[in-house]
Amino acid sequence: MSAPQRSRPIHVPRTPPPAGAPPSPEIFAALGEDGIRRMVEDHYVLLEGSSVRALFPDDMAAAARKSATFFVQVLGGPPLYSQAYGPPRMRQRHLPFEIDAAARDAWLACWDEVLADAPARYGFPAGHLPAYRDFLDSFSAWMVNAE
Ligand code: HEM
Repeated sequence: MSAPQRSRPIHVPRTPPPAGAPPSPEIFAALGEDGIRRMVEDHYVLLEGSSVRALFPDDMAAAARKSATFFVQVLGGPPLYSQAYGPPRMRQRHLPFEIDAAARDAWLACWDEVLADAPARYGFPAGHLPAYRDFLDSFSAWMVNAE
């Protein structure tokens, strides 16, 4: 029996997983779970009006809540994502969605807008913004799976 056909080829570019240190846990210490949830919700509000909207499910609020559990975890808080959904395996979990360079740029642009006033809005420690931007930059390159 032949393998099931995919509806589209999945390209696997060679971008490696992020090698740098994870973001500083001081970010969770400063924002708390509530601040991180608000920040991720704001990111999803911007995604809702972006060119990648169609990749996401209808219920963006629910998608934001799920995603926020990962960001709480990766920014130094309790492992809410792993407890609820298992190992992150983010690249694998993104494979069903066709993410090309333009989609990555749109996703990052929404983060840029959120981070522009993150110190004032969420109490994000300004000194940790450059490393957090680097984290998003390298992590999102790893998510790209289409040309
Ligand atoms: C490169 C551009 C990216 C695009 C276009 C994108 C798009 C998506 C889409 C379409 C989903 C599914 C939403 C759902 O069904 O609920 C998703 C889920 C998610 N994304 Fe991304 N994503 C990107 C990068 C990233 C990065 C870099 C991270 C983390 C740093 C991330 C974290 C998550 C998380 C935590 C989820 C929920 C996973 C799950 O369903 O278990 N995404 N993303």
